[in-house]
Amino acid sequence: MLRFLDAGESHGKELVAIIDGFPAGLKIDLDFINKNLLLRQSGYGRGGRQKIEKDTVEFVSGVRFLETIGSPITMVIRNKDFQNWLSVMTYDAKLTDEKAVTSPRPGHADLNGYIKYDRSDIRDVLERSSARETAIRVAVGSLCEYALLKLGVQMVSFVKAVGKVSLNDVDYDNPALIENIEKSPVFCPDEKTGDLMIAQIEQAKKQQDTIGGVVEVVAKNVVCGLGSYVQWNRRLDAKLAYALMSIQAVKGVEIGEGFRNASRLGSQVHDEIVYEDGYRRKTNRAGGIEGGISNSEPIIVRAYMKPIPTLIKGLDSVDVKTKKATKSAFERSDVCAVPALSVVAKSVVAFELLKAYIDKFGGDTLSEMALRIREYKEYLKTK
Ligand SMILES: Cc1cc2nc3c(=O)[nH]c(=O)nc-3n(C[C@H](O)[C@H](O)[C@H](O)COP(=O)(O)O)c2cc1C
Repeated sequence: MLRFLDAGESHGKELVAIIDGFPAGLKIDLDFINKNLLLRQSGYGRGGRQKIEKDTVEFVSGVRFLETIGSPITMVIRNKDFQNWLSVMTYDAKLTDEKAVTSPRPGHADLNGYIKYDRSDIRDVLERSSARETAIRVAVGSLCEYALLKLGVQMVSFVKAVGKVSLNDVDYDNPALIENIEKSPVFCPDEKTGDLMIAQIEQAKKQQDTIGGVVEVVAKNVVCGLGSYVQWNRRLDAKLAYALMSIQAVKGVEIGEGFRNASRLGSQVHDEIVYEDGYRRKTNRAGGIEGGISNSEPIIVRAYMKPIPTLIKGLDSVDVKTKKATKSAFERSDVCAVPALSVVAKSVVAFELLKAYIDKFGGDTLSEMALRIREYKEYLKTK
């Protein structure tokens, strides 16, 4: 069973994850992981924090000579900004007279966390609820994505919408797709749409406001048969939805054309079956999953992100000490993190897909898994 836990505060010393159940024998490409970390930090609309951090991953256990060895893997990302926050974020005795944060931001965990954990400083809440945590999730997910790549699965993610600007059709088979995404400042494969997205972000910024959007994750060459309908918590669509919904600020998850399908007729929704060197669907509106099981068409999932809750101009709030009306606190923040979300979303999907592969094919080593997948593909030809 593949699982992980992570820890770390936004301005703390480091972010840490321990992954258990990762197959042995994966030769790690550090550049692959670090590139995703860099992409998460870039993207049009990000704030000043990203200029301070230059995230790279370090392995503390479970890896020798760049190869996974089957034992728990500990990954660490150090927060460079910690140096500027030493006195505020130390675990040691308090030596600072820095003022506590007392005006909670609407749309954040600030007020609920302050009440739930009986804190006197909202910083105790915002440090862990911050999406800085997504850096370590990208590290974990990138390791999984790399293992999936070795098992034949290719993944890509991009920005589908920012505010009211939305991208229509995407050719997943275009060989230049990834290149087009990565050269776009907003990770949108279509340049013209990308420019319109940038204009939306600029407009929000001018108004001291923030803006959300939609990202799409695609996984190609996923075998038929991951997940199951036999138990509610074994459905692959449910697992992907949970994982995506766990990302900060994601408020909706769509599998395939899920939302649009709700207003269409059945004949316009369901993907008709044909046999051409194996079973295929004429269309893929289901996003590669039917009955909670992958059907071998590309898996397509979307995550809908609300606008960032930290606004320069602030929002109405209440000072928790005085109970008087105030404006919410502003701390260095992004205007739009939808491009960054596209990287995070791909990572959490990669973790769930590798987990589903391990559930189905078992194996203590990656080569054992690859062998079983080859055998399974032979079996598929007989059906
Ligand atoms: C990659 C990424 C970056 C984010 N950056 C910021 C930020 O700079 N400032 C901020 O207030 N919220 C930011 N957010 C959003 C908050 O983390 C999120 O709104 C908050 O956790 C509350 O969301 P929830 O209600 O879904 O938990 C970011 C989210 C993501 C995914």
